[in-house]
Amino acid sequence: MAITQEKVALIPPYGGRLIDLMVAAERVNALTAYANTLPSIRLSSRALCDLELLAVGAFSPLNQFMGEADYRQVCAEMRLTDGTLFPIPIVLDVSADAPGEVGQEIALRDKGNRILAIMTVEEKYAWDIQELATQVIGRNDVRHPLVAEMHRWGDYFIAGPLQVIQLPPHYDFKDLRLTPQQTRAILERQGHQNVVAFQTRNPLHRVHEELTKRATQAIDGTLLLHPVVGMTKPGDVDHYTRVRTYKALTARYYDQDRVTLALLPLAMRMAGPREALWHAIIRRNFGANHLIVGRDHAGPGKDSSGNPFYGPYDAQDIVMQYGDEIGVTMVPFRMLVYLPDEARYEEIDKVPNDATTASISGTQVREEYLQKGKKLPTWFTRPEVAEILAETYPPRHRQGCCIWFTGLSGSGKSTTAAILTHLLEEHGRQVTLLDGDVVRTNFSQGLGFSKEDRDTNIRRMGFVASEIVRHGGIVICAAVSPYRATRNEVRNMVGQDRYAEIFMDVPLEVCEARDTKGLYTRARRGELVGFTGVDAPYEPPRNPEMRVDGAYNSAEVNARLILEHLTTRGFVRVEEYAPPANGSAE
Ligand code: ADX
Ligand code: MG
Repeated sequence: MAITQEKVALIPPYGGRLIDLMVAAERVNALTAYANTLPSIRLSSRALCDLELLAVGAFSPLNQFMGEADYRQVCAEMRLTDGTLFPIPIVLDVSADAPGEVGQEIALRDKGNRILAIMTVEEKYAWDIQELATQVIGRNDVRHPLVAEMHRWGDYFIAGPLQVIQLPPHYDFKDLRLTPQQTRAILERQGHQNVVAFQTRNPLHRVHEELTKRATQAIDGTLLLHPVVGMTKPGDVDHYTRVRTYKALTARYYDQDRVTLALLPLAMRMAGPREALWHAIIRRNFGANHLIVGRDHAGPGKDSSGNPFYGPYDAQDIVMQYGDEIGVTMVPFRMLVYLPDEARYEEIDKVPNDATTASISGTQVREEYLQKGKKLPTWFTRPEVAEILAETYPPRHRQGCCIWFTGLSGSGKSTTAAILTHLLEEHGRQVTLLDGDVVRTNFSQGLGFSKEDRDTNIRRMGFVASEIVRHGGIVICAAVSPYRATRNEVRNMVGQDRYAEIFMDVPLEVCEARDTKGLYTRARRGELVGFTGVDAPYEPPRNPEMRVDGAYNSAEVNARLILEHLTTRGFVRVEEYAPPANGSAE
């Protein structure tokens, strides 16, 4: 295919027109004021993505959430009622009691209650999970992330014409968020007739660089690097991190005249083949006439019987089948593997059976490299990408962790916590100690010892703890925290895998006999009311990460036992240097 120097006319959008439902700027204020008088619903993250892509024409020729006839035909035959191929239902779910009766106008708000659009409701219809799941996903299996999500959807879908007042605002990577019109304009300026799009929800590694460069060369055109930044598969690398990898790579490793990076706020369905076809239609609207489809495109993983939902190349078959109709040529790839002996990538079916191949899975990247602070090899990923990933996924011993002491007053929580602080700092960790007594003199000042006040105090500590952990610090909390439910709330705030509940197990009699602060004496005399163990309950933990015996062991022994537990879990790194044993001359 020849490279044209003059401006080339790109292929028309799918369905022949680019929709832009945005109202003119001067009408925004008036419409917002009007919309404020209407009943309104709040959109889910998914509906928000769909609305944005409907508004800018990414789903052209579709310009509204689907009514029942379109919905049914799309599910059954992948076609709108006018015959246009469209493989994925775009629907807006509402609960039975939500506003939005037929004939009514309703305002659509985002999570921050900003009004984004007005819908004139023309239809409200019931839908069936079994039908939707089997027809579109292939199986009604909750292991599929979308099927699992569908169980939380409202019982009805609503549809009708939209007036979009404003797009959901984005502040991150603003210059990379391009509408179909903007993307087409850039591609046109680049002047290549052929454009191959690359869809991705993962960081870009060498294998993807290889796919995209081979494809660009094969079509003698330009690459539209078009990662999804809306919703992807739960557990994926967050889009901030991913986009940083895309930027680093496009800036350094691609021919600048033959690449355009743009972000797509798509909510993926993980619907394999149907999704691949949908990806092709969307990219056509953004000006691409080719789409890379490799192995297991938009694959959701395994079903509840342990089988993959789709065959590894099903997506290729379907995009191939409908390519002419939608005006997108598929650029297929078999699975690409690395040949270490030849230091190159090759498609699996071109590799001899006995050849050595190398690969690193996503799980391995995290568990065997990032978590251990081990550098990813350069055959697998560019150093710039390795660096960005290492920043997002620091090794365990640089991740945050919350150590939560619970136990009766006088059980030794504060003393043990103070010793543990020294031990952790000895091992290079930064520690914040939130001691109940200390906390109560500053940010919980004024709270008493009723159940409500105690819970408020614990939740405040939990909130601060979760922020410290999120930023990679160690926080030790030492508070009686007598209520099991509240402790579990805190555990969930911080996150199970970053949490160690330490039960200071000391019998009441022992604490009372110690009576380090004289509080038991005062409680028995009735000078203190609601004292835990005397006239207020203590609910011991059922499954603490550690139970330590504070009656028999010294605080130091217990602190060292806890350190050992944290070391086993990787939060503390074992030093290689061991001091010579005292006195012995070996
Ligand atoms: S997807 O869910 O968006 O499809 P991903 O970002 O992993 O996931 O893949 C993007 C595209 O690259 C898909 O077309 C996929 O098939 C292709 N791809 C990824 N890794 C390989 C590989 N090793 N070999 C061949 N194709 C691949
Ligand atoms: Mg104390």
